[in-house]
Amino acid sequence: MKIALLGWGTVAKGAADALEFNKDTEIVKVLVRKEKPELGSRAVWSIDEIVNDPEIDLVAEVMGGEEPALTYVKAALSAGKHVVTANKLMFSLHYEELLALAREKGVSIAFSATAGGGIPWLINLQRMKRAGAIESLGGIMNGTTNFILDAMTNEFSEFEDVLAIAQQLGYAEADPTADIDALDVKAKLALSCDCAWDVMIDPASLPAMGIRYITSEDIEAFRSIGMTCKLMGRAERTEKGEIAAYVEPMLFPKDAPEAGVPGAGNIISAVSSTAGKMSFSGGGAGRGCTGAAVAGDVLDIAEGISVFDSACCNARVAASNENIIHRYYLRIDDAVEMKETSVAEMNRSVQAALAQGRRVFAASFVE
Ligand code: HSE
Repeated sequence: MKIALLGWGTVAKGAADALEFNKDTEIVKVLVRKEKPELGSRAVWSIDEIVNDPEIDLVAEVMGGEEPALTYVKAALSAGKHVVTANKLMFSLHYEELLALAREKGVSIAFSATAGGGIPWLINLQRMKRAGAIESLGGIMNGTTNFILDAMTNEFSEFEDVLAIAQQLGYAEADPTADIDALDVKAKLALSCDCAWDVMIDPASLPAMGIRYITSEDIEAFRSIGMTCKLMGRAERTEKGEIAAYVEPMLFPKDAPEAGVPGAGNIISAVSSTAGKMSFSGGGAGRGCTGAAVAGDVLDIAEGISVFDSACCNARVAASNENIIHRYYLRIDDAVEMKETSVAEMNRSVQAALAQGRRVFAASFVE
């Protein structure tokens, strides 16, 4: 199968490495924005050269950002080409529309790399939901923040220093705000909910508290009580049949599996009514693992398999977090308090304090 890549950044190069290893597909064109001498005549500057090329069967979008990625993916699907995307931001915002367009055109759209980096999370979630109701899901979904928290906890590093290293290693987003303010996890959690329950969570209703203002004093306070802080995305079906979904730092006992996830690793679990709890862990960010996830989707489609063909979206719903009660460590500037309240209420308090320019950090205790 002849394929085109949209973009030539970290993930694109990782995908090219993995596809070169396999040799069942051939990258014939790469859409670039700057001169890339190493690509020779494969480099093209216009999406038209790809969508109008009848030899190309599949387009892998590895450029990131909402636009022009969305326009390009729609153009590829409309031209009857299969699409693989690693773009969690764009895809979480346009999930419904893109699935419908792929179905209308009779092509596959696969998106393993949008959540979990290299770990086979979404693909297994799709499989699990066919054989049982998904009751809850969640885990560590961002490699950059895990890298930062791990280094602050175990190597006594400072936040800014480790963030700079994560950027150099290619884990962080182009704008690392998306990592540290938890917007990246928010997109990955929304996509996971879409896969699990076939409904789209309205992004405005999904609260996300990040780690921007975590300090070494916070880490020391957690260490002194035997707890380890991790940034978690979580969702569950409530008794009323609604979906609670939120992103927040959480405190785990040192022997919990989440506490031991090192570096840029991820661990994500789902609980199914039939299969019970399944956990998937491994590399969550970076060239090798994310590129391999893209390549895996490309090779599946080349072989006529796409677990994602059963993904659909029946409705858009708001996350319901008013009745999810957690015990929180809350620090506003230098004042620390413990507070038991709902996820929704804590998020409102934190957002209000942030809007006043306060340095706020909150983390819940895992019960
Ligand atoms: N910036 C993301 C992360 C990349 O750190 O997890 C992988 O999605």
